[in-house]
Amino acid sequence: MDTIKIFDTTLRDGEQAPGAAMTIEQKYEFALQLARLGVDVIEAGFPVSSPHQFEACKLIAENVKGTTIAGLARSVEKDIDAVYESIGKAENSRLHTFIATSPIHMEYKLKMTPDQVVESAVKAVTYARNKFAEVEFSPEDGTRSELEFLYRIIEKVIDAGATVINVPDTVGYTMPDEYGLLIKSIMNNVPNIDKAIISVHCHNDLGLGVANTLAAFKNGARQAEVTVNGIGERAGNAALEELIMALNVRKDLHHLNSNIDTKQLYNTSRLLSVIMASPIPRNKPIVGANAFSHESGIHQHGMLSNRETYEIMTPESVGREASEIVLGRHSGLHGFKKRIDELGIALSDEQIKSAFEIFLKLADRKKEVFDEDIMQVAGSVLGTKSTFYNLDYFNIITGNTVISTATVRVKIKDEVFEEAATGDGPISAIFQAIDKATSISGRLVEYNVHAVTSGKQAIGEVSVLVEIDNIKYLGKGSSTDILKASARAYIAAMNRYKLSMENNGAAREN
Ligand code: KIV
Ligand code: ZN
Repeated sequence: MDTIKIFDTTLRDGEQAPGAAMTIEQKYEFALQLARLGVDVIEAGFPVSSPHQFEACKLIAENVKGTTIAGLARSVEKDIDAVYESIGKAENSRLHTFIATSPIHMEYKLKMTPDQVVESAVKAVTYARNKFAEVEFSPEDGTRSELEFLYRIIEKVIDAGATVINVPDTVGYTMPDEYGLLIKSIMNNVPNIDKAIISVHCHNDLGLGVANTLAAFKNGARQAEVTVNGIGERAGNAALEELIMALNVRKDLHHLNSNIDTKQLYNTSRLLSVIMASPIPRNKPIVGANAFSHESGIHQHGMLSNRETYEIMTPESVGREASEIVLGRHSGLHGFKKRIDELGIALSDEQIKSAFEIFLKLADRKKEVFDEDIMQVAGSVLGTKSTFYNLDYFNIITGNTVISTATVRVKIKDEVFEEAATGDGPISAIFQAIDKATSISGRLVEYNVHAVTSGKQAIGEVSVLVEIDNIKYLGKGSSTDILKASARAYIAAMNRYKLSMENNGAAREN
């Protein structure tokens, strides 16, 4: 089985996308994560384009080990020198040079004849080969270039010393079969192609970036240029996580390995989303919130019997937590009962049925039903209040010149407990004040927030994992006020703890 190479260009092509700009430190942090993920090549940037790009490439090249660091250059000496000065000290370095080869680019952008383009490419590769052991050449807009011209320029640059030939679908124009044929015809018509490996670089303008990359692998390409979360110019590039999981899930078809540690995929995606302050769409394959969530009753029933009914890969295989059964208006009795069990609430079959009726009415009114709602529903069937701790009031003083101070009032049955605490920030202050008011000492293990609705009035959902007496309890809370949502989530975790104490630990989340 062949092993394909993953060339990650998130920090170069990806960062060219509107809204994707990163600081030098953020690029460095992300490059470290790419190395952990196991990419073979990190394209760190386009050093000649700005002092920022130059410095980021240098920092990454000098400190990120265990992978090759590449830098981009047009086919001119000044660009190649900038790459050499910035990444020349990397453990392994690669020069990536490009020049456009399609008639439209040569005539309108470069204003050069095809012969001049070949001459520049050969000159650049020859110059680069004296400085770098690995030289990659890209005929930009390759998929809209004339075939005979492509064969000619590729042969010449390989003779000049190029070791990797990248065939970019710069404008995301090609189709899988067509692109596969193009790679095959390059393999068959460039006499010295055995001296280089073929790489592919597919933009996603028609949503075919990953499909085109797979078609190219089928026809002999052995390196893919991809970006995490598929970011990049316009509609982006082929997404690394989608390509890798397509190869893994359908190994029976592709027979290809990679060096990627798939368990790092989710972390890498999340890190990028946090750095770019750009949420991952819920329905994004592999890394979106819905990728392993099931709401419809039929799907939940299938999943509870055998997860393979509706999942072709496990969330754990991409570094995520267990699949989620999301309760909403499409859910069935099986999913509802499972959540009641997880919450540690003991209901008879009759009570479950009544609670389910109430739940369905509630789910019709609400976009998503949270654990706190389920506990209220169960409580109404039991004729009791199933929430032990209730947040009565909270107040926060915070800012960049004051120490965050929170006051909370928690109701336990008819008694009211009011406490105040300070913290590193408002969230920490609230959680500490709740600890005092409930006399429970919780350790925050995980804190996540996401917008359930969009716009400035978005409802934020906070989920927390709180460790109490060595057991972790999940709590969720929602509100248009993120601090209120946080307080509700923390109280919800405390209520789960209380319930589990009363039900001999049945509501554990571990
Ligand atoms: O899309 C493209 O053609 C590129 C090249 C520089 C490889 O990003
Ligand atoms: Zn590109």
